[in-house]
Amino acid sequence: MIIAAPKSQEWLSDPQFLPLKDWIIQRTGLSYYSSRETEFAAALERVFGQGKSRPSAGVLLSRIQSNASDLDALVEELTIGETFFFRHLEMFQALQSAVFPDILQRKAASKTLRIWSAGCSIGAEPYSIAILLREMLGMQFKDWSIQILGTDINRRFLRVAQAGAYDPWALRGMPPQILHHCFTQEGNKWRLTDRCRSGVTFRSHNLASDPFPNSPEGLAAFDLIICRNVMIYFDQAFIQKLAHQFHDSLSPGGWLAVGHAEPHTNTFRMFRTVNTKGAILYQRPTGGSEILESISTPAYPPPRTAWAPLPVTLPALEVASDRFSTPESPSPFLSESFLPKPDAAAESPPQSYPLEAAMQLADRGALLEALQACDTFLLNEPLSAAGHCCHGMILYQLSEWVAAERSIRRSLYLKRDLALAHYYLGLVQERQGHNAKKHYQNALDLLLDAQADDLVPLGQGLTVREFRSLLAMPETLAEAR
Ligand SMILES: C[S@@+](CC[C@H](N)C(=O)[O-])C[C@H]1O[C@@H](n2cnc3c(N)ncnc32)[C@H](O)[C@@H]1O
Repeated sequence: MIIAAPKSQEWLSDPQFLPLKDWIIQRTGLSYYSSRETEFAAALERVFGQGKSRPSAGVLLSRIQSNASDLDALVEELTIGETFFFRHLEMFQALQSAVFPDILQRKAASKTLRIWSAGCSIGAEPYSIAILLREMLGMQFKDWSIQILGTDINRRFLRVAQAGAYDPWALRGMPPQILHHCFTQEGNKWRLTDRCRSGVTFRSHNLASDPFPNSPEGLAAFDLIICRNVMIYFDQAFIQKLAHQFHDSLSPGGWLAVGHAEPHTNTFRMFRTVNTKGAILYQRPTGGSEILESISTPAYPPPRTAWAPLPVTLPALEVASDRFSTPESPSPFLSESFLPKPDAAAESPPQSYPLEAAMQLADRGALLEALQACDTFLLNEPLSAAGHCCHGMILYQLSEWVAAERSIRRSLYLKRDLALAHYYLGLVQERQGHNAKKHYQNALDLLLDAQADDLVPLGQGLTVREFRSLLAMPETLAEAR
């Protein structure tokens, strides 16, 4: 029997395949694809391989160079938009306790704020900032002119952002009081209220090709730039260039927030480094004579050892400066913290759906409590494939590879067609130095007939499209996102 090569393989043998890929990387900054020929070819196939006459890579290159919609279509396949509201809670706590008190004090006279979320995906990040500021300012919110700009290279993500309606997956970890305060339910989506969206705008912008700072385009003089989980796809030279551009796009004293998996040593040396628990922030110095040395540069992020106690308190600033408010001397702007502390859920885990409760605890970072909840569930339901799968996923997050593998294999023994379990089996295999390809392939095969917008079983709202994107990622990046 002759097994036909997948169509995407045909791209790989095209002599213009590499020039095409290089051009895209140069245009988008997505060096992530430098050594991922197969994934790049698969994306080409999904976008351009469906018609009767597939273009050659050479023809496609000239088409893409002259036709923005072809380029956009490919970019929509290549970019990975994993995001959710209040993602990495520690960062929002740091914004609340350190960054905004400082900015609000400095801008008290003009009462204007300019914030940029660069690489905002479907908008969860800029909207989370808007919600945080609204909560912090309370009655004073209406006295301020607050502009929050979300930009992204992917126009499909921007359309979702503009619509402001979200699947539950994007809302995981959202404090329930915020959910009900800022969203209304429409079928299986949650729509942000106009009130909570006001001041947030979106625009297409390519960090690699569209110049900035750019005052005429409004890309300058920001008080805060947040660019998280975007630079992980770029190479170091580009990241270094971006660090300078972000610096120059901030007002003196403005802040840069990057993701916790982002490179930091030396890259951001033109900033002051401010360490909070769980987040590192960078501040553009206010004057030329300031020392540009980092204030403290610990190994970051501190590796979380398995079973280490989880952080339970609002982060306290490690840097002493009378410009910052501290928990002891709260800013007049700082209303009582509305962000849940990481252990808040652990204090009152929802009882009604034990397995869901476990997953919610896990999403909030309360992994030990989540594991306990899952154990309790399995005591009553020892043959639940879902239960064993969740158990394995939590153990995976706790870096307990061997135990995680055991639980996941149990789930697959009970139910062989759990795509998510195959995916996690691949992850734990990779962590243990084994080849994971066949497990990822199994996961993909199981969803072969699924529609992109279908939900992945046990994925808590994860769509098949998002899952396919995850499967195109190496384990380390998947974790970082
Ligand atoms: C993983 S998401 C991060 C979303 C959000 N910042 C967060 O942390 O939740 C990465 C985003 O970066 C965007 N991106 C990738 N390359 C970009 C570029 N050259 N310019 C602008 N955005 C880009 C992608 O489209 C995607 O939406």
